[in-house]
Amino acid sequence: MRNILITGGAGFIGSHVVRLFVNKYPDYHIINLDKLTYAGNLANLKDIENCPNYTFIKGDICDFEKVREIFKKYDITGVLHLAAESHVDRSIKDPFTFAQTNVLGTLSLLQAAREYWDGDYQGKKFYHISTDEVYGSLGFDGKLFTEENKYEPHSPYSASKASSDHFVRSFHDTFGLPVVITNCSNNYGPYQFPEKLIPLFINNIRHNKPLPVYGKGENVRDWLYVVDHARAIDLIFHKGKVADTYNIGGFNEWKNIDLIKVLIKVTDRLLGRPVGTSDHLITHVTDRAGHDLRYAIDSSKLKNELGWKPSLQFEEGIEQTVRWYLDNQEWLDNVTSGEYEKYYEKMYSNR
Ligand code: NAD
Ligand code: DAU
Repeated sequence: MRNILITGGAGFIGSHVVRLFVNKYPDYHIINLDKLTYAGNLANLKDIENCPNYTFIKGDICDFEKVREIFKKYDITGVLHLAAESHVDRSIKDPFTFAQTNVLGTLSLLQAAREYWDGDYQGKKFYHISTDEVYGSLGFDGKLFTEENKYEPHSPYSASKASSDHFVRSFHDTFGLPVVITNCSNNYGPYQFPEKLIPLFINNIRHNKPLPVYGKGENVRDWLYVVDHARAIDLIFHKGKVADTYNIGGFNEWKNIDLIKVLIKVTDRLLGRPVGTSDHLITHVTDRAGHDLRYAIDSSKLKNELGWKPSLQFEEGIEQTVRWYLDNQEWLDNVTSGEYEKYYEKMYSNR
C-alpha cells in the first residue's frame, strides 16, 4: 500500500491524475488536498469520488500545520504536487496570490515531507509538476527548450513556478529529499477552466461571443492532450530518476491564430453550423503584457529514457475536446456563472 498525496487534484490536470491513479492503482490510497479555489471543482471527480482508495481533503497547502497533520495521519510516502495558481493573466493582476500559493505553498509541502520522512527516504518521492514557462521565450528559429535551458521567467506566474522549482531542488541538494521535477507545455482537454484559450474560445463560439485574440495572434504554443500528460506523470513518478528533470511536450506547435481557426471550424461543424459562421467573432485585443512569443518543448529525454510519447494526434484530441465541452454545457455554465462572469467582464473592460 502506498499513500500518495496529490495536491490540486480538483483542478484541470490534477483531476486527470487523480482519476488515473485511483483507477489504475487500487492498492494505493490517494489523498487529494485541494483548497477549491475558483479553479478547483469536485464535479471534475464525480466518477471516482466514492472509490474506497480515495480521500478528499479541503485545505490550503500554505497551512503548514494542516499539511503536517496529513503526512502523519495518512503516513504519506509519495507526493504529486500540482496545486497552484495557474493563469498568467491573473498573475499580472494579482501576483501576491501566486507567490503565496506557488512559492510558500510548495515550501510548506517540502518542509512537511522532510520532517515526516526524517531522512528515511527509501520508497519515498516528492514530484513537482512545473511548466515550460520557467525557460522564458523562444524565437522563431526552430530551437526547442531542453532540460539544459537556463531559467528565464517573464510573467509573475512563471517567476513563481521557477522559484518553487528552485526550492524543490534546494531540498534535494540540502537535505537529500528525493525529488523529481517536470516542465510541461500547454495542456488541453476536458475539465479545463474556461479562462484558458481553448475552453474559453469553444464556449464563446457556442454563445456567439467575441474571441479576444491577444495582439496579432502570432504567439506559438506547444499543445499536449491532458491525458497524455497524466500518463507521463504516472511513468515519471514510478520510474523517473531522483533529482532529475524531464521536459514533457507534444511536439505540436501552433500559432494562436491558426489554432483558433481550427477551433472555429470544428466547433461550427459539431454545432451543425455552415462553414465560416463564427469567423467574424475573431477580435484582436490589446496584447498580454510581457507575452512570451513561443514555447516549444524537446521531450526526447523522456522518450529515450522512459519510452513515453503522446498517444493522441492533435486532430483527434481537439475533436474530442470540443465535443466534450459541447456535451457538458452544464459543467461550463456552473463554472462560468457568478463571480467568474464578473471577473471576465472586468478584465476586458480594463484592457
Ligand atoms: P488549475 O488552475 O486548473 O488547478 C489548480 C488546482 O489547485 C485547483 O484545484 C485549485 O483549487 C488548487 N489550489 C490552488 N491554490 C491552492 C492552495 N493554496 N492549496 C490547495 N489547493 C490549491 O491548474 P492546472 O492547469 O490543472 O495546473 C496544475 C499544475 O500543472 C500547476 O502546478 C501548473 O503550474 C502546472 N502546469 C499546467 C499546465 C497547463 O497547461 N495547464 C502546463 C504545465 C504545467
Ligand atoms: O506552457 C504551459 C502553460 O500553459 C501553463 O504553465 C499555464 O498554467 C497555462 O495556463 C498555459 O499558459 P498560457 O499563457 O500559454 O495559456 P493560455 O491558455 O492563457 O494562453 C494560450 C495562448 O493564447 C497565449 O499565447 C495567450 C493567448 N490568449 C489567451 C487567452 C486566454 C489569447 O490570445 N486570448 C485569450 O483570451
